[in-house]
Amino acid sequence: AKARHFKWEVEYMFWSPDCVEGVVMGINGQFPGPTIRAKAGDTIVVELHNKLHTEGVVIHWHGIRQLGTPWADGTASISQCAINPGDHFVYRFKVDKPGTYFYHGHLGMQRSAGLYGSLIVDVADGQKEPFSYDGEFNLLLSDWWHQGVHEQEVGLSSSPMRWIGEPQSLLMNGRGQYNCSLAAQFGNLSSCKFTGREQCAPKILRVEPNKTYRLRIASSTSLASLNLAIKNHKMTVVEADGNYVQPFSVSDMDIYSGDSYSVLFTTDQDPTMNYYVSARVRGRLPDTPQALTILNYKPNAASKRPSLPPPLAPAWNDYAHSKAFTSSIFARPGSPAPPRNFHRRIVLLNTQNRMNGLTKWAINNVSLTLPATPYLGSIKYKLWHAFEDRPEEDYDREAYDVTKPPVNPNTTAGSGVYNLRLGTTVDVILQNANTLTANVSEIHPWHLHGHDFWVLGYGEGKFREKEHEKGLNLENPPLRNTAVIFPYGWTALRFVADNPGVWAFHCHIEPHLHMGMGVVFAEGVHRVRDIPKSALACGMTARMFMSRDNSN
Ligand code: C2O
Ligand code: CU
Repeated sequence: AKARHFKWEVEYMFWSPDCVEGVVMGINGQFPGPTIRAKAGDTIVVELHNKLHTEGVVIHWHGIRQLGTPWADGTASISQCAINPGDHFVYRFKVDKPGTYFYHGHLGMQRSAGLYGSLIVDVADGQKEPFSYDGEFNLLLSDWWHQGVHEQEVGLSSSPMRWIGEPQSLLMNGRGQYNCSLAAQFGNLSSCKFTGREQCAPKILRVEPNKTYRLRIASSTSLASLNLAIKNHKMTVVEADGNYVQPFSVSDMDIYSGDSYSVLFTTDQDPTMNYYVSARVRGRLPDTPQALTILNYKPNAASKRPSLPPPLAPAWNDYAHSKAFTSSIFARPGSPAPPRNFHRRIVLLNTQNRMNGLTKWAINNVSLTLPATPYLGSIKYKLWHAFEDRPEEDYDREAYDVTKPPVNPNTTAGSGVYNLRLGTTVDVILQNANTLTANVSEIHPWHLHGHDFWVLGYGEGKFREKEHEKGLNLENPPLRNTAVIFPYGWTALRFVADNPGVWAFHCHIEPHLHMGMGVVFAEGVHRVRDIPKSALACGMTARMFMSRDNSN
């Protein structure tokens, strides 16, 4: 194992992600940011310099559990203070598990601004993956708006709210095509003309016939749930969120924001042709053209047009198809099994609400508003006034009708935390409900920091302990860090609160989180030692450090 050092500068820059020039948040002049590649057991050291002129920044390493380094999790107001313009911060953490991960900004809507990149962890030297392949590709999926994020943020927190709408483009590795299509001959957009050097030219997947490739896929979308397919090629899913799964074969797959996967595919089709790889929007009435790239069989020219049309995606609201995919994911035999029993079960009701004319998302009727002092510091140093020390909220599970808009749509802002006892097994039931609009319930992909959880099951309507308990899968549930709740459904998760620190648990749809859709878990914070002071140089922790210094 070794330490891998990176020096990064974050700045805004002009870029044409989808052939239309806009402003993106880049790292070292690149968009998406540089790919980190490491081996399991390595230590990653990123010295992050904030070259933005007027705003702070942090970077979260999505899927990395940060065992023993909760201050390196990169969540503003939770694990650290935002890094000020002109200042820098050193992230130092271990990547303990091989897999496909990514990183992204975690302050305001900086992920939507394009602050993301891939993080790939190979098996340690001398170790082997439980499958083999001849080559690999990496697809980082995202969605892109022509309106800047600052306008989006202002819109979301205006009364009445101005919704961001559907993305103009879907990007693969930060590249999309607005107003033209690679598959022009099958659609009504004009044909894209590329030399290959444009910022928006697609990243072509060049393959040799009769080989097996690993495709790593991660989704950093702000909003879109996606369906990915390779024309005429089946994919075998082998990894999800950095955990091996029982291999299963699909012809298309759903990918929610925050998910990552590896699939294997074999180039066993007619090698005289090229084929489309496509990603389309699921779960929302699509208004965004599909993202496309080309699977280019050598020695065909990459510019040779595929003679078959791009794969057809299932209808956007074909939830049965999505559920079938999600429920075919099981842990690979030999993976750690969940404890048989839980110590505590938390039910989290997901609702859309109003607050003083604003539209909000709330969990058990509290819309998350982050405090100025990072919880990691305020809890460690017992600065109890740094956040709202309100008892954990519950709701009337019997009375609440999840099939109707809320009877009382008003919510309140809150910054309270859920205190978990270190070492205990915690179940979380994510309970979906109707939004403010009758007959509407949305998809929410929930992501947990600091842990993987077992996904014990999914169901329709209201979760009822008596009825649903026995149907939960304790035999081979997949370990993941992101799990979706389907419209009007529930999802049951289990994890062991064994990582001292303070951890966000939230909907990975950026505007939803921005509107309050998350909670904060704290466990064993008294055990956390050696938090770098630079992580806490703001708010009440900064004032505490100053008064201590003055007293000596
Ligand atoms: Cu990738 Cu808290 O998120
Ligand atoms: Cu959501």
